[in-house]
Amino acid sequence: MVGKDAESAQQLLDFIDRSPSPWHAVASCVARLEAAGYRRLDESQPWDLRAGHGYYVVRDGSSMIAFHTGKGSVLDHGYRLIGAHTDSPGFRVKPNPVKQDLGPSRLGVEVYGGPIIATFADRDLTLAGRVIVREGDTLRARLFHSAKPLLRFPNLAIHLNRTVNQEGLKYDLQEELPLVLGTLEETLPERDAFRHLLGDSLGVEPGGVVSWDLTVADTQPGAFFGVDQEYLANSQLDNLASCHAALEALLQSGDESFPGVRLLAFFDHEEIGSQSFKGADGPFLHDVLERIGETFLDGAGARRQALARSLVLSADMAHAYHPNYARYYDLEHAVHLNQGPVIKINASQRYATDGMAEAVFETLCRESDVPVQKYIHRNNLPCGSTIGPITAGRLGIRCADIGNAMWSMHSLRESAGTHDHHLMIRAMRHFFQRQALPLEEVAG
Ligand code: CO
Repeated sequence: MVGKDAESAQQLLDFIDRSPSPWHAVASCVARLEAAGYRRLDESQPWDLRAGHGYYVVRDGSSMIAFHTGKGSVLDHGYRLIGAHTDSPGFRVKPNPVKQDLGPSRLGVEVYGGPIIATFADRDLTLAGRVIVREGDTLRARLFHSAKPLLRFPNLAIHLNRTVNQEGLKYDLQEELPLVLGTLEETLPERDAFRHLLGDSLGVEPGGVVSWDLTVADTQPGAFFGVDQEYLANSQLDNLASCHAALEALLQSGDESFPGVRLLAFFDHEEIGSQSFKGADGPFLHDVLERIGETFLDGAGARRQALARSLVLSADMAHAYHPNYARYYDLEHAVHLNQGPVIKINASQRYATDGMAEAVFETLCRESDVPVQKYIHRNNLPCGSTIGPITAGRLGIRCADIGNAMWSMHSLRESAGTHDHHLMIRAMRHFFQRQALPLEEVAG
């Protein structure tokens, strides 16, 4: 491993270790943006936007839009946007979670999105997210993260589950998911015991703990592996790796960037379909673009013109070729770790990329000396989707779906290529810096 590659890969692992939930991921981004002089905007207040400044808006703690207003005309240059998502599949704690019957207390969870459930087994798990506490007349969201392991999802011994290696780990989602929490104070009713636990670590009276959005998180920090440390492993690479790359690209793109608006849109709720007031299928991005337009663009026609001159990179991870499972890949479109960013293409628009967007991103990579790969899902497997088609469809902006390759998508411990992260940052930085896109009017 050499220089820049190792440095930005290590920064990615640190970023994920600081961001065990979508709320923490946004807080980590906000800390970087604040340090770079970006100013917070409040959606419930008027905005006073100036040219040549950086701003960010957070919706409900776990979705965030950050943008830099360039020094030139928004009408002439439009927007360059990178979208990504802050959430990862896993478990969420139920409102009356504690189960106390025979044996230890257990914590009831719901399944969030599509995790590989077996990867949660026998790991040192904890909780992270936000807790809503009552302070006087006010309800306040407090970040919560216990660094020490609190929970476990123990496997059944093979002696009691003799066919596990032939049939795989299968779970009854209602009966077999509660996680071992330990021994709670027996004097407390079940309902209060968990509130005590949260209240104690937040320094809040248990009666002040009202509700929560808590996710089950891994406690193991990120790591490199492979003979040359050419791979890395952590939770949430899908999609915090894309968030981190895009954030770095924006902050590194600097004052000499393209003169329009550079914008990041990081959404929660992608893993459950994006339809919520802060998800990609909600109005958040549209609302922010409207308010930018109110300052810099004169009327609805001008706003449409600016959008027509814009481009979205929807950044989410791609499925790297797994040598043990060659039969699951279209071999002409297999993509590999450490061979650069991936353009994701799907004729049914499960990925939003079209031929022109593909050519633009390929050009951006070539110009920044970054190798590029192209992924197509097998015709006989259903293709996943991401925020690209939703964003392109809602706003009417051309979009390229891109992302770095990874193994074990939706595992609690995903893996990816050490060298790819820096390459993605370089391609995205060039996207924000290139003065005009190599995009002629589409011939009618
Ligand atoms: Co994803």
